[in-house]
Amino acid sequence: MDLGLKDKRAIVTGATRGIGRAIAERLTAEGARVAICARDADAVTEAVEQLGGSTTGGAVNVRDADEYKAWLEKTAEEMGGVDIFVANVSGGGGMDSEKNWWRCFELDVLHTVRGCEALLPALKESGNGAIVIIGSTNAVEYFGGPMAYNAMKAALVNYSSQLSQFVRGEGVRVNTVSPGPIYFEGGAWEMIKGTMPKFYESTVRKIPGGAMGTPEEVANVVTFLASPAASLVTGTNLIADNGYTKRVQL
Ligand SMILES: NC(=O)c1ccc[n+]([C@@H]2O[C@H](COP(=O)([O-])OP(=O)(O)OC[C@H]3O[C@@H](n4cnc5c(N)ncnc54)[C@H](OP(=O)(O)O)[C@@H]3O)[C@@H](O)[C@H]2O)c1
Repeated sequence: MDLGLKDKRAIVTGATRGIGRAIAERLTAEGARVAICARDADAVTEAVEQLGGSTTGGAVNVRDADEYKAWLEKTAEEMGGVDIFVANVSGGGGMDSEKNWWRCFELDVLHTVRGCEALLPALKESGNGAIVIIGSTNAVEYFGGPMAYNAMKAALVNYSSQLSQFVRGEGVRVNTVSPGPIYFEGGAWEMIKGTMPKFYESTVRKIPGGAMGTPEEVANVVTFLASPAASLVTGTNLIADNGYTKRVQL
C-alpha cells in the first residue's frame, strides 16, 4: 500500500530516541522529509546523521515557548511548508507535587497546543495537513494513581477531538495515538523492569498479547494516520496497546 508520503514535510518533537525516533525513522523510510527536535544537541546531531537524507534537527526545549515557536517557524520556512506535525514530547509520569502538575501541563498540553497553533497556517496551506498527538492509555484507564501525566494525556484527547472538527474544513486532520506500555532500551519500562520487577511483570501479565509494544509498532500506526492514506480518519483516539486496556471501546 502506498501511503502517499513521498516528499511530505514532517515535524516530530522529541525524536532522538524511543517512540518519536521510531516515528521519524518510519516517516523517512516512506520518503517524507523530516525535522526533529530534542534538548540534547549531541543526540540531535547523531539522530539527524543516522536518519540521513534531508533530515534536519534542532536542539530545542519545547518548554521554552519562544525558542520552540522560533524553531517551528524557521523549520517550516526552510522546508517550504509543513504537511505533518507529530506532538510527541511529554513530561512523563510521577507522583505529584503542584510543581509537577505545572511541568506536565507545559510539556504535554502547552507544547502540543503551541505547536498546533504555530503550524496550522502551514498545515492548512498544505491541503493535506495531518496532526498526530501522542497520548497514552493512562488517559482512559487507572494507572499508578492520580498523576498529572494521566490527566494531561486525557486533556490532549479532548483537545485533539475538538481541534479536528474545527480545522477539517480547511484540509487538516487531527488524531491521537494512545500507546499502552512500550518497551525499549533506555526507556521508562526498561528502568521499571530493573527497579520494580514485580510491577513490571504484573503489567506484562495484563497484556493479552503477551508483550509490551515496541516504538516501531507505535510508529507504524502514527505513520498511517499522518498519511494521505488515512484521508477519512480524523478526531479519533487510536489505542495501540496489545489489549492492555480492558474497557469496551464503542
Ligand atoms: N514509553 C511508553 O511506554 C509510553 C506509553 C504510552 C505513551 N507514551 C508517550 O509516547 C511519547 C514518547 O515517549 P517515550 O517513552 O518514547 O519518551 P522518551 O524515551 O522519554 O523520549 C523522549 C524524547 O523527547 C525528548 N524531550 C524530552 N523533553 C523534551 C523537551 N522539554 N524539549 C524537547 N525535547 C524533549 C527527549 O530528548 P532530550 O531528553 O534530549 O530532550 C527524547 O528525544 C510520550 O508522549 C509518552 O507520554 C510512552
